[in-house]
Amino acid sequence: MDEVFLIRGGKTLSGEIEVEASKNAYLPILASSILCDGEMTFTNVPEFSDIDNMCEILKILNVKVLRKENYLSLNTESVMNTKISHELTAKLRASIFLLGALLGKFRQAVISYPGGCKIGTRPIDIHLKAFRSLGVKIVEKHGYIYCNASNMKAGKVVFPSVSVGATESLMMCATLLEGETTLYNVAKEPEIKELEKFLNSLGADIRGAGTDTIKIRGVKKLHSGEFKVFPDRIIAGTQLILGALCGENMTISNFRREDNQFLLNILKESACDFKLKNDKIIVTAQGRYPSYKFVETLPFPYFPTDLQPQLMVLETLSKGTSVIKENLFENRFNHVMELTKMGADILVKDRLAIISGVEKLFGADVYSSDLRAGAGLVIAGLMAEGYTTVHNVHFIDRGYEKLEEKYQNLGAEIKRMNIE
Ligand code: EPZ
Repeated sequence: MDEVFLIRGGKTLSGEIEVEASKNAYLPILASSILCDGEMTFTNVPEFSDIDNMCEILKILNVKVLRKENYLSLNTESVMNTKISHELTAKLRASIFLLGALLGKFRQAVISYPGGCKIGTRPIDIHLKAFRSLGVKIVEKHGYIYCNASNMKAGKVVFPSVSVGATESLMMCATLLEGETTLYNVAKEPEIKELEKFLNSLGADIRGAGTDTIKIRGVKKLHSGEFKVFPDRIIAGTQLILGALCGENMTISNFRREDNQFLLNILKESACDFKLKNDKIIVTAQGRYPSYKFVETLPFPYFPTDLQPQLMVLETLSKGTSVIKENLFENRFNHVMELTKMGADILVKDRLAIISGVEKLFGADVYSSDLRAGAGLVIAGLMAEGYTTVHNVHFIDRGYEKLEEKYQNLGAEIKRMNIE
């Protein structure tokens, strides 16, 4: 049985679509909740399958999880340090955050390797090297990571390269560690600032998120609290690209300009018509845009890798030739073959995709290979002439909530179906 989206393209989309809370902020925040003794409540938790899977892992650690629609409460008073099996950790990349949280709370952890979208090998060497630099003893054997942090000491960690997850892992690990830990060459994504904001709201003492250096002064304990996470900038960017292609006064609410400045600059140069009004952006398509010559994916504040497939659809339909360079992940062009089936003209050479704009795309059977590639293929289907079937929508459900219903509300012809 394969769950698919069946799409009939060519409609103009209008109305309002709201951006959900950030998946890549909620995942480390939920993992770090085990550092607290008490009850955390979250009031805008999106229905993403990655969040469901994170909650399953927390339950294994004996966290009491109470969930009702977008409300989630976690009671960590009887949290236990349990070995976390591969069956659970393989479901999402964010399972790796439990390592930093368990070391921060219990100074011990046994956990298997994380999963995540197959956009590269997704190693965790930077995480482990950073833990070792604080004195954590780590042995990897039989598919598990055995960690003993009984002699862990506050100190300095210099990341060899920028890693969002490793930055977040070390923030959690040092939150309750006596003394001052300084992290150098950290990631500056908005999700890092949101994690700092969350932990500090519970009594942590962390400074510097959003800059190159983060200082963590260990505290004895964290107290209970309530939190609401900021909007998902990748979903916002996805909807903005959709609106630029087929919107007519399409309104995206819960939009934070500062999180998508680079994409806004690209669209402005391409003469896309949008108006910003408080936390809304209203966008209207302007037909075929001139190609935006060159974009490369880089850590924040530059163009995000998680919007690369979606931007490729925009460039595929533009006038002229454009080049996209994917610097972050070594295998993040799986959507190219699928777009080619729809009539796209794209040449891939190593990390470069050379895109010759075409006038239109044609509906086809296409296969999502990961979360953001799937989102890009849905946009392509909504633009294509005729019918498109997007397979493997479970990838899309990892980070988009009821996407087909939200697009139906904008006037799209899209429905979720099960096929043999
Ligand atoms: C986070 O992944 C996001 N996931 C990804 O979003 C996002 O694409 C990525 O950051 C980059 O912004 C979550 O936050 C759950 P990295 P992460 O560590 O932490 C290499 C989505 O679609 N690296 O910043 O895994 C790595 O291979 C997902 O929502 C190592 O070599 O990304 C990559 O080339 C996809 N060793 C680069 O660093 C390590 O130990 C950046 O990875 C860790 C990373």
